[in-house]
Amino acid sequence: MWEKSKELYEVAKNLMPGGVSSPVRAVKPYPFYTAKAKGSKIYDVDGNEYVDYCMAYGPLILGHANEEVKEKVVEQLENGWIYGTPVELEIEYAKIIRKLYPSIEMLRFTNTGSEATMAALRVARGFTGRNKILKVEGSFHGAHDAVLVKAGSGATTHGIPNSAGVPEDFVKHTLQVPFNDVETLAEIVEKNSEELAALILEPVMGNSSLILPEEDYLKEVRKITKENDVLLIFDEVITGFRLALGGAQEYYGVKPDLTTLGKIAGGGFPIGIFGGRKEIMELVAPSGPVYQAGTFSGNPVSLIAGKTTVEILMRDNPYKELEEKTRSLVESVSEKVEKECIASMFCFYFGEKPKNYADALKLDKNKFVEFYWKLLKKGVFFPPSQYETCFVSTAHSYEDIEKTAEAVNQCLREL
Ligand SMILES: Cc1ncc(COP(=O)(O)O)c(C=O)c1O
Repeated sequence: MWEKSKELYEVAKNLMPGGVSSPVRAVKPYPFYTAKAKGSKIYDVDGNEYVDYCMAYGPLILGHANEEVKEKVVEQLENGWIYGTPVELEIEYAKIIRKLYPSIEMLRFTNTGSEATMAALRVARGFTGRNKILKVEGSFHGAHDAVLVKAGSGATTHGIPNSAGVPEDFVKHTLQVPFNDVETLAEIVEKNSEELAALILEPVMGNSSLILPEEDYLKEVRKITKENDVLLIFDEVITGFRLALGGAQEYYGVKPDLTTLGKIAGGGFPIGIFGGRKEIMELVAPSGPVYQAGTFSGNPVSLIAGKTTVEILMRDNPYKELEEKTRSLVESVSEKVEKECIASMFCFYFGEKPKNYADALKLDKNKFVEFYWKLLKKGVFFPPSQYETCFVSTAHSYEDIEKTAEAVNQCLREL
């Protein structure tokens, strides 16, 4: 079924580590190679078609190759694709984001979510004059030194919770706390408040399977950080524009000090954004002493793709329909697996539904991979790891959903 993909992988594995450009794409014995994608479908080089729920790990809330976004990108390309100067588009898009995320009074565009979290942590340290940061076990904030401790996503899938090459001296400043545990959080924050710059967390964990915050957890998180004068950073690289236009902070009604965005914010092109309270963001260079920079930052192609995507979401407000489709899929799947969904994110668990990273590690990841291959053979593409989250887009039809539920149920019977 995947002869050409296999051939390509044989070549790739000698050119690139693991044959891939990012570890999450590696699945044994080899991944399929994509030829093209449109709407809810992705097509491999062997001529197979799949309904896609990986959706490039989150950015494609409008599905693949949305026509309106494409038109605007092509229009932009006619005028050049990078200038190295400011563009009016930055102002227009920044205004929209500020309106949708009232906690973001000032922001900067970067190229990836990793860069955004790296810069957010740096400015938090610059603002507070403190070195330590606190992260949640199993959350993933990108592949940079400070946060590569018990990181989720590919790091967990491939069993590398703490990366080699990161000096102990760096990560000694990174403290850890389990998700959904207010007591331990309060204890750690109170004990370290003099040295602690910020708590960074994914409000909904999307990189250790899908883990929802328990009722009032995020409100308590806000209360504890505020009382102890520790900054709260919401990493909304996945949840931004996904849970609601205004992300998890709108969905749960909790206002962080700093926010990071990415994925959907670039409409399928590379982007990251960090922003927050003006008095903090004004410390970023050149207006302040916290350095951050990038050749490709605020490039007009990512900006136009992101802005157009967000404008479509504002115009069409598809969130209710997305949620209905997602829920309908999850409810149509047999009780043989535990399952969860929120907005257009969903997950099936081979084991008990987790409430933190320690629980997630008990899930049967090998069984998930078995399920992944069976499902792929039936024309449905899930991200190839138990620790990833599936995404529904506006391009998914109820027909896609029905076909998927049927395929999933059949696979579960066969397992
Ligand atoms: C919550 C979260 N933060 C940050 C990142 C890093 O973003 P990027 O891959 O664009 O660097 C990711 C990537 O999956 C993510 O899920």
